[in-house]
Order: sequence, then structure tokens, then C-alpha cells
Amino acid sequence: MHETAYEREPGYAERYRDRRFHSGSGESTDRAERAALRQLLALTGATDGPWLDAPSGAGRMSAELPGPVVRVDRDAAMLAAAGPDRPRACASVHALPFADGTFAGVLCHRLLQHIPTPVERITILKELARVGRGPIVVSFFDACSLQHLRRRVRRLFGKKRSGRSAVGRARFLAECRAAGLEPIAVRALRRFVAEQTLVLLRRTEARLT
Ligand SMILES: C[S@@+](CC[C@H](N)C(=O)[O-])C[C@H]1O[C@@H](n2cnc3c(N)ncnc32)[C@H](O)[C@@H]1O
Repeated sequence: MHETAYEREPGYAERYRDRRFHSGSGESTDRAERAALRQLLALTGATDGPWLDAPSGAGRMSAELPGPVVRVDRDAAMLAAAGPDRPRACASVHALPFADGTFAGVLCHRLLQHIPTPVERITILKELARVGRGPIVVSFFDACSLQHLRRRVRRLFGKKRSGRSAVGRARFLAECRAAGLEPIAVRALRRFVAEQTLVLLRRTEARLT
């Protein structure tokens, strides 16, 4: 079942939390995503202060982040499914309700593949950069992958659009630079096979305040 299916039925947030990454290929995807995130975080050194997990969904990746975590998602049901153990805010990544430089680090995991245009992705990346003062980890779907090719072929044969947008790695990194973020390291789950790819970024301009 893919992610949008959970959004249509009552109880989708709990199902996303309890099933999406606990059954079938979801389990190995979950393991690989955590491993990729840990590898990138190991490159950042120690950070001092809170991390932002946005969008947190049902909170799957929050425990991987160093330091206290604030969860943000625009979907209140997802935030509720994540539990009350961490501070949370129901908000959009387009307008995060935090002052500039609030967070020691930022994670934006499994959102950008749902954003179809470069302009909107860059707007979101800028907003993440605004509220962060340290490392930023984002994920995107790499168009140069067998998984993406399969998706395109299935569409040619009449399968419904999945609502996911993939972009080439070089193009995505250029979008990050356009948002004032310098790519430090990239970790694909399985380069040229799987779409999911994580990128460690830092702000190009040092914050002056
Ligand atoms: C696929 S889930 C990923 C959750 C989590 N990061 C993970 O990896 O398990 C995507 C989440 O993005 C949220 N979302 C989508 N657009 C958003 C926006 N503009 N602002 C905040 N959250 C958004 C959805 O509500 C959903 O919970």
C-alpha cells in the first residue's frame, strides 16, 4: 500500500505508523533509511540544541536525531499518532512557526518526492534553512533509478499516477544550492536501483546573528 492510500481512510495515521514500515518491503526500506540517516549524522559531529523533524509523520525517524526533537506535520492525525512524548506543532513546512536559526539541525524526510515543482521544493528548502543553524538532512526521489523507470513504464501502460515526483541527482543538488544550501554528502538507499536518496546539507552563508 503506498503512502497516499493511508490518507483516504479513517485510521490512516495509525496504519502508517504500525504497518507502512513494519510489513513487506517496508521493513527493509525502514532499515536502509535509518542506516543512511545515521551515516550522514555521523558526518556532522556533535550539535548543541533541538532538532526539527518536519514533516515528522507518525514520528518514525525522530528517535534517530541527536538531541531533543520538535515534531512538525500539517496533519494533526499524524502528530497524534506520533504520541505526546515530544513537543509538536501542526504547521506547514512552507511557513514554519519558528524564529530564524531556532534549530541545531533539521530533518525533512519523505516529503520532497510529493512536491512536483522545483520552485516549490526550493521554497521549502529555504524555509528549512531559515529555521536551522546547523546540518540539514533532506530526502528526495532520484529519477535515475530502476524504481523510477518502472513507475514510468507502468504509467505508460495506464497505471494511475502515484503522486510522487522524482528528479535527477544533479538537478536536485542544484535546487539545494539555489536555496542557499551546500551539499556535503549523499546516500542513496541503492544507487540506480531505489529512488530514495538522502542528502546532508549546510547553509552556504554563515548566519551573522
Ligand atoms: C510520507 S510521510 C513521512 C513522515 C516521516 N518523515 C517518515 O519518514 O516516516 C509525509 C508526511 O508529510 C506531511 N506533509 C505533507 N505536506 C506537508 C506540508 N506542506 N507541511 C507539513 N507536513 C506535510 C504529511 O502529512 C505526512 O505526514
